[in-house]
Order: sequence, then C-alpha cells, then structure tokens
Amino acid sequence: MIQTALTEALGIAHPICSAGMARVAQAELVVAVSNAGGMGCLGSAGFMPDTLRDQIETIKRGTDKPFAANLLLPDALTTEDEQQWAPVRELWDSLDDQERTKLSGIEALLTPGAVADQVQIVLDAAPTAVVLTFATPDWFIRECKERGIQVFALVGSVGKAREASAAGVDFIVAQGTEAGGHTGYVSTMTLVPAVIDEVDQPVLAAGGIADGRGLAAALALGAAGAWVGTRFIASPEAFGHSAFKQRVLDGTFKDTTITHSYSGKRMRAFANKWTSEWEASGAQTSGFPGQYAVAGPRVETGYQDGDLDFGMMPAGQTIQLVHESAPAGHIVEQMAAQAEAILRRIAPRD
Ligand SMILES: Cc1cc2nc3c(=O)[nH]c(=O)nc-3n(C[C@H](O)[C@H](O)[C@H](O)COP(=O)(O)O)c2cc1C
Repeated sequence: MIQTALTEALGIAHPICSAGMARVAQAELVVAVSNAGGMGCLGSAGFMPDTLRDQIETIKRGTDKPFAANLLLPDALTTEDEQQWAPVRELWDSLDDQERTKLSGIEALLTPGAVADQVQIVLDAAPTAVVLTFATPDWFIRECKERGIQVFALVGSVGKAREASAAGVDFIVAQGTEAGGHTGYVSTMTLVPAVIDEVDQPVLAAGGIADGRGLAAALALGAAGAWVGTRFIASPEAFGHSAFKQRVLDGTFKDTTITHSYSGKRMRAFANKWTSEWEASGAQTSGFPGQYAVAGPRVETGYQDGDLDFGMMPAGQTIQLVHESAPAGHIVEQMAAQAEAILRRIAPRD
C-alpha cells in the first residue's frame, strides 16, 4: 500500500481521487471510487439545489467511505448583486422552452442564489472534503473548518497556489494544461514541483494521469496523490452518452483543443464543429458564466444525445492512453497496484 499525507489525512487506502467533473462525476461514480479505496468527488457545479441534495443522499446510501464535493465560488457566482446577474439572466431569457428543458436541474451557474444554496447543502451534508475551483473565499474555508471538512483547492498556476495556501486550504491540487476541463498553460511535470516548492500544504497532481505510471511519476515529483478526470469518463459508472465515451476510447492527442466557446473560460475539450466554427467566427464570448447560457443547450446535446459535432465534451490529453472502458473501482485498484510495482522496481537497493 502506498501511504502519503493524503491517505493518512483522509483514511483512504489509495492516493487516488476521481475529479469533480460537472455532469460526468455523479453519485454512481463517486460511490465506486470511494468504495474501491480512493476518494470520489461529486461534480456538483451545475446541480440545482434539489438535485444536489439527492445526489449527496445517494452517495451516503452507497458508501460510508470518504467522499468530496466540488464547488465553484468565484464572485461572479456568489454575488447577490442583481446588476451583475442581469446579462446572464438576459441570455437565459433568450432561450426557448426546449433549450431550457435541456438544462433543467443543472442550471445552477445561470441562476442567482443557486450557488449559495449549494454551499448550504454541502456544509450541512459535511462530506469529508470540498474541492474549490477558481476561488478560495475565507468565509467558506472558516465554515468548513468548523465542521471538520477538509478543503482542497484546484489550481493551474503557482500564483493561484500561493493564494489558496494563504487562504488556509488543507490540500492543493496542481493541475497541468494536459487536463480536461478548465485548464491553464503549464504542464503537470513542471507545475507540480513548482507548487510544492511554494506551499506548505500537501500537493496532489492533476492532468495527464491515466494509469499507475502517471501516479508513480506524480509521487516521484513529490505529490501526495493523483487527481484524475479523463480516465474515468468511459467507465460505466460515469454519466454521459455512449458516443462521448467511445470518443474518449478512440481519441488521440490531436483530438482535443483549447476553447473559450463553452463557458467563457479557457477549457480543454474535444475539438468539434462548435469549437471550430466559434473560433472562425471571431465572436467574443459572453464571459463566465454567461457564455454557458449561449452554449449550454448545445453542451447538453453532447452529454444527453451524443451529438459529437456541437455537444460540449471536456477531455484531457490522456485520451491517447485510454483504450478500454473499465469499471471505476477497477481503474483505482489497477492504478494503485501498477504504481506500487513501479516504485518497488525503481527503489534504490541497499
Ligand atoms: C469532463 C470533465 C469535466 C470537468 N469538470 C470539472 C468541474 O466541474 N470542476 C472542476 O473543478 N474540474 C473539472 N474538470 C477538471 C478535473 O477536475 C481535473 O482537474 C482534470 O480532469 C484532471 O486532468 P485529466 O483530465 O487529465 O485527468 C473536468 C474535467 C473533465 C474531463
């Protein structure tokens, strides 16, 4: 067994977490990963309050092991200032009924007050950990500490790592540009040691990790564990249309692109008609989260209907390494066993 600051603090068997991928990482995936000895993270970001509550209850029925929930708490989502929300609401109002139905239950990023409700639901549920993306507000970290909830911050730069460290989070997840989803500019190989040099907290590595080789490399860099997204997309427990999962299995390095067209922020996703037409049109995005109202209904045609041309499908460069669908628990166990064997093989002998 590989013991690290992560396994010790959380009481988990393997230093592996599945990422809080919005839409993809629902209760079933979280339960499978946590029951296998990793820590599953719920992709809570888009869930409206009732859906989020149901998801957490399902996780608690499925496992008594540690699990986490992801929250996005930038000012743009937590503000109660109606003026700031006005452009987002205008975009929402411009959607037709069919488009709104597509987003039903998952429109939290477009709904004033929904993120505040998510916060209360998560604090009341008191998962083992909360994973914060984009921002690490002091008020929220204080609330977590009072409830014994560990706080992780997902960052893509040394500057953001410093900020999260100063805010007092417990773990920092350093995510390289290889990663699927919102992502920065620097590779995992260079970002992880750079962040470790800057902060006192244990650091997890994210981006480009698909198997035990990646986990062993992350540990060799000094990370306390791996934060893994893309590798789990094609697993049967992940949410998403089979066409999306198949595209992960068939994908190569050339198939992802960086685009602002889905959320207004820099994201690695499958290149498709939507990303290339958006790029060619020279259109300005409506910012975050407004752009999600522009793209949202199309986004959902990917996850719900398997529309590979217009559906949003975040995916990382590890699609080149993923060739078969495996149950999530199996992925965790194999990754841990392979890393252990590698570390034994390369350990210096007396
Ligand atoms: C489909 C997908 C959706 C994602 N959604 C989120 C999200 O909602 N919140 C978040 O913090 N990170 C999200 N991410 C990024 C992951 O948390 C993680 O950092 C990343 O997947 C790690 O890199 P990898 O894809 O190479 O394993 C997403 C990634 C993918 C692939």
